[in-house]
Amino acid sequence: MRVVTKLLPLLACALSPPATAYDIGCIYPAQMPTPLQAYYNISALLSANAIVLGIETPIVVHGATAVSLCGTLCQSYHDAAALDPLTESAPSFRVPPFGHNAFSRVMCTAQCVAARSVQTLGILFDVWSLAVTGIEPDVARAFSLATEDGGAALNALLEERDFNPLVVGQVAALRVAVEFGGDGWNGDGALVYSEEQDEAVPCTANCRPYADTIGYKPAPQPQVEYGNASSSVAESCASQCSECPGLCRRWQPLVESDQRGNAVRQVQVTPHIGIKAKLYGQKEPPPPLADPGYDYLEEARLVLERMSASASNVTRLTAIRFFDQKLYIRGLVELAALEQFPDQSYEEQVMFIFGIGVAEQDATILAWREKLAADRIRPTTYIKRWGETIVRTAQPGSADVVEIRAADFEALARVMPHSEFPSGSACICTAYADFTDLFTLDRFGSRLRDLTLGPDEGAGGVGLFCNSTFVPPEQQIGCIPEERLRFATMSDLARECGQSRLWAGLHFTASVSAAETQCSGLGRLASDLTKKVRNGTTWGATWAEGQPRPICGAL
Ligand SMILES: *[C@@H]1O[C@H](CO)[C@@H](O)[C@H](O)[C@H]1NC(C)=O
Ligand SMILES: *[C@@H]1O[C@H](CO)[C@@H](O)[C@H](O)[C@H]1NC(C)=O
Ligand SMILES: *[C@@H]1O[C@H](CO)[C@@H](O)[C@H](O)[C@H]1NC(C)=O
Ligand SMILES: *[C@@H]1O[C@H](CO)[C@@H](O)[C@H](O)[C@H]1NC(C)=O
Ligand SMILES: *[C@@H]1O[C@H](CO)[C@@H](O)[C@H](O)[C@H]1NC(C)=O
Repeated sequence: MRVVTKLLPLLACALSPPATAYDIGCIYPAQMPTPLQAYYNISALLSANAIVLGIETPIVVHGATAVSLCGTLCQSYHDAAALDPLTESAPSFRVPPFGHNAFSRVMCTAQCVAARSVQTLGILFDVWSLAVTGIEPDVARAFSLATEDGGAALNALLEERDFNPLVVGQVAALRVAVEFGGDGWNGDGALVYSEEQDEAVPCTANCRPYADTIGYKPAPQPQVEYGNASSSVAESCASQCSECPGLCRRWQPLVESDQRGNAVRQVQVTPHIGIKAKLYGQKEPPPPLADPGYDYLEEARLVLERMSASASNVTRLTAIRFFDQKLYIRGLVELAALEQFPDQSYEEQVMFIFGIGVAEQDATILAWREKLAADRIRPTTYIKRWGETIVRTAQPGSADVVEIRAADFEALARVMPHSEFPSGSACICTAYADFTDLFTLDRFGSRLRDLTLGPDEGAGGVGLFCNSTFVPPEQQIGCIPEERLRFATMSDLARECGQSRLWAGLHFTASVSAAETQCSGLGRLASDLTKKVRNGTTWGATWAEGQPRPICGAL
């Protein structure tokens, strides 16, 4: 028996083409949309879910990586030349040519993604009559044997199951799970920091996904006396306030409260990723950033001024909201690319999404690395320390500039739970812009232009989640003419992205320029990796919008 199963893959290899080649027209569900539509429906639903749940940026970024890895792994398995994006070498198996088509690839991707997010996506797959499953025990067993048997059992199983895309998708899901178990993010919460041992130890119960594995602790509160109502800040603290020495400049958790009486003190989100997480395009982190050399008193004055200028400026307020949510930015870029280059294949888009995801994840990790090292105080904490001093500024939700106690100060957007320097958004947007320009120039011969958020009205505008039943109206964006933003180029988009963080009062000035410099090489590295993974392939049977669906029995 044992001998027979070992021989099977050898025998099967000798038969070419395999006798059992499937006909994709017969196994692709009739109710399932075409590949691009299906991919976008899956991405849109996962995005809507992340937006509604208010998932923190690094976790959104890591989740997007899971989806893009599924897409890219599935595409490489279903191709004659493309490489495995994780090993950057030939995949451990290749589906025979009958599976080298976008329909097989997207079925595989749907199954791979479903293995992680079946509750969220179930509603789509039911409508599509796509019979995704969890990981089948046979597949899990064959996969786990691969290090011992060189993949023989897995190859035998794949032959026996006729390389069904849903089985290949399960293999891709297992690959992603192994990758995520060792990529330093602690996404499954398997590790927890132990005070006593001063290191990460296995979690035994009540594990929290993405929990800190390095034991980050905020610095102690500084003992400071600042301004009062009868004096200006400058009078009461002078050089202490400008230099903000020692503990004064260290990050402090902010308190966030809802309107129902609940208040929570922040904990830095994923403080460990900067030093623990795997970089994909950028293999070695660049040298650390120089000290921003802030004059805090002057910088805080600029914060108040910028916020005042934003209060009644709808363009700025829309930009603040838009750039706050990375999924909106990616949505606009991806839809604008589809609009400007309508003939691009499903396969091109999967590579585009892979590359922009690599750029985005590396940018997040690099920004976090610097944030941990600098551990800088947010403007909100600094300004609140002035206590009774009266400041003139804007407040969230109001168009008026008013005088308030400094202690009551809040920025115009939520201050995210991580330290101030450098700006994560500026870093991520720089990477988006650099990668996107390189990719579209290389593949389509021109840059992306005139990206427009806003209702179409014949102007090529893109609204995000407009009238979606999955996203409440206040989180839909670009659906009314007032919410129109136009970016002539990706560089313009990236610049406004960084500036919008200043307009909202979330950062001091150097935070944005430093991030733009630090992250300016990431797009190129992501582009190099994308080309390497592509390995010059033309993807066999590609598919673009408007082409016919395969018909069962037509082969
Ligand atoms: C899938 O995408 C199409 C086109 O964007 C849209 O009309 C449809 O509502 C989407 N379906 C779901 C379930 O999101
Ligand atoms: C890259 O593509 C070439 C040409 O199709 C192929 O011969 C080669 O095997 C591929 N590389 C790998 C590592 O699979
Ligand atoms: C407020 O500041 C003024 C001027 O620096 C100082 O004279 C006064 O004592 C301060 N009052 C309090 C209550 O700290
Ligand atoms: C609103 O802000 C934008 C971006 O800073 C600026 O270009 C524009 O002039 C401002 N509009 C008004 C009315 O101040
Ligand atoms: C949303 O629904 C409203 C009312 O049905 C409609 O007037 C509007 O055009 C829709 N907006 C978009 C962007 O589809």
